[in-house]
Amino acid sequence: MRASPIHRMKSIISSEFQPMPESVPVQVAWTPATLRALLDKELPGAEVIVVSNREPYIHNFKGERINVQTPASGVVTALEPVMRACRGTWIAHGHGSADRHTVDEHDRLRVPPRAPTYTLRRVWLTEEEQDGYYYGFANEGLWPLCHVAFVRPTFRESDWASYVRVNQRFADAIVEEAVTDSPVVLIQDYHFALLPRMVREKLPKATLVTFWHIPWPNPEAFGVCPWREEIIDGLLGSTILGFHTRFHCNNFLDGVDRFIESRIDRETSSVVLGGEETLVRSYPISIEWPPAQLIDQAPIAVCRSRVRAGLGLADDIHLGVGVERLDYTKGIPDRLRAINTFFDQHPEWVGRFAFVQAAAPSRSKLPDYDRLQAEVVALAESINARHGREGYQPVHLQLRHHEPDEVFELLRAADVCVVSSLHDGMNLVAKEFVAAREDEHGVLILSSFAGASRDLPEALIINPFDEQGTSDTLHRALLIPEEEQRERMHIMRDQVRDRNVYRWVGQMLLDAARVRSHQRIGDISEQNAEDNQPRYRS
Ligand code: G6P
Repeated sequence: MRASPIHRMKSIISSEFQPMPESVPVQVAWTPATLRALLDKELPGAEVIVVSNREPYIHNFKGERINVQTPASGVVTALEPVMRACRGTWIAHGHGSADRHTVDEHDRLRVPPRAPTYTLRRVWLTEEEQDGYYYGFANEGLWPLCHVAFVRPTFRESDWASYVRVNQRFADAIVEEAVTDSPVVLIQDYHFALLPRMVREKLPKATLVTFWHIPWPNPEAFGVCPWREEIIDGLLGSTILGFHTRFHCNNFLDGVDRFIESRIDRETSSVVLGGEETLVRSYPISIEWPPAQLIDQAPIAVCRSRVRAGLGLADDIHLGVGVERLDYTKGIPDRLRAINTFFDQHPEWVGRFAFVQAAAPSRSKLPDYDRLQAEVVALAESINARHGREGYQPVHLQLRHHEPDEVFELLRAADVCVVSSLHDGMNLVAKEFVAAREDEHGVLILSSFAGASRDLPEALIINPFDEQGTSDTLHRALLIPEEEQRERMHIMRDQVRDRNVYRWVGQMLLDAARVRSHQRIGDISEQNAEDNQPRYRS
C-alpha cells in the first residue's frame, strides 16, 4: 500500500518535527521549516512559480526616496516561506509608484530586499487594463457574483475583453519565466480564472494549483454570469482547484454539472474534462503562528490602557472592535445598526461600552464602495449623536489603513471582536483576534456566513442580517464570565495554532506532489508498455 501524504510527511520531517503537547501526539507542527523539508523531499528540484494580482513588495516614492512596503496580506505570509525555500519566481502586477525604477530590463528584481532569495517579476498594466480587468470584471463582476451580499454584479463586454487580455498577459509571463516544462504554479484568486487553461495549453506538463480565495456561489447565482462556461473551463485547466470550505467545492461541482459537459466524480471530488482531471479540494486558509506582529507587542494590560487613552476613553470601559477593508461584504452598516439597537435596549451600557471600527478605504473608485463609505459615516455620526455625551463617544470610526502592529494592539485591547461579514471566504481577522490573545480573554462574535465559522465554532455565531440577534449576542458577549471566555478561547487558539497558514500551503503542495508522482508512474508504465510491445519484422 502506498503511504498517504501525511504519513510520508511525518517521515520526512523527522529532523524538524516539533511534537505537540502529549495530548495530541500525532499532530505535525507546521512551520516554515516543515515547508522547506516538504519541498526538499516531496518536490525535489521542482520549479515553483506563484501568481497573484497583489505583489509581495511594493516600491513607492516618498519624496526623492524609495520606500518598500509589504502588504498586510495572508497570501503573502503563506507563500513567502515557500518562495524563500524554493528560490522560485513570484509574478504580480507592479503598481507601486517606484516599481519600474527598481526592476531590471526583464522587469525582475530579487527579493526580500534585505536577504534576496527569490525573484519578483512585475507585470505592467495600463490604466485602461486596470479599469477593465481589476475594477471592472474582477471587482464589479466576479466579486459581487461570488459573495451573496445582494449587490448586483455588473457585466460589461469591454471589462470581460480586458480580463481575458490581462489573464493572457500573465499566462505569457508564466511561460516566459518557466525554466522547465513542468513547473508547479500556484495561481491566486478570482483575478485569474482563465489563467489555468491558458497556461495548460502552453505547458501541458505543469502542475497548476489554483486557489479561489472568495466564496463560490450556487449554480443559480453563478448562472447569471454571461461568461460562466468560459470561467469554469478556465479553472478546469488546473491540476488542483482549492476553496476554503467543502461547501464552496460542492457549489463549484454543481456549477460544473449544470453548465459544462464533463465527468464529475463526487467520490474523489474531481472533474474530468477532455481527458484531463482536476481535483477540487478544500484548504482552509489561516494565519502564521505565532504571528510576527506579536513579537514587539506590549503586554495586554498596556495595550488596553494605551488604546483607551488614545480614544479618550476611561480605563475600565468595555471595548468592542471591528477591523476590515471598507467593503460591502463585511456587513459594517448592519453591525452599526445592531450596536444602535443594543444601546437603545440596554441604556445601562451607555458610557460603559464603546466600539472602534477600523475600516481601510478600498476600491474607492467604484460607486458601491463610495456609497458604502457615506452610509457608514452617517450611521456612526447618528449613533454618536443619539447615545454620546460630553466626554464619551460610543462609536469611533477610523477610516484609514492600519499597520499590522496597530491592528494587533487593537485586538489585544478589546473585550469583544465583531466579524459580521454578510459573506466571506474565510476572514482572517477572526483568527488574528484569537492569535492576539495569549491571555485567553475576549469574546469573538462571528458571522455564520464567514468560512472561519467552520473552524471556530466556539465563537458566538450570528446571522449578521438579523439586527436584533446581533444586538442580543453583543449583550451576551459583554456578560460572559471569564472562565467561559477562557475555555472558548483556549480551544480556538489550539485550532489556529495547529491549522496555521503553513499547513494551508503544505497540504496543497503535498497533494501536488502526489499528483506528480502519479503522473510519473503513469509515464513510466506507458513507456514500459511500449517497450514490451511485440516487434514485427517489416
Ligand atoms: C480579498 C481577495 C484578495 C485581495 C483582498 C484585498 O481578500 O480575496 O485577493 O487581495 O481582498 O483586495 P484588493 O482589491 O485591495 O487587492
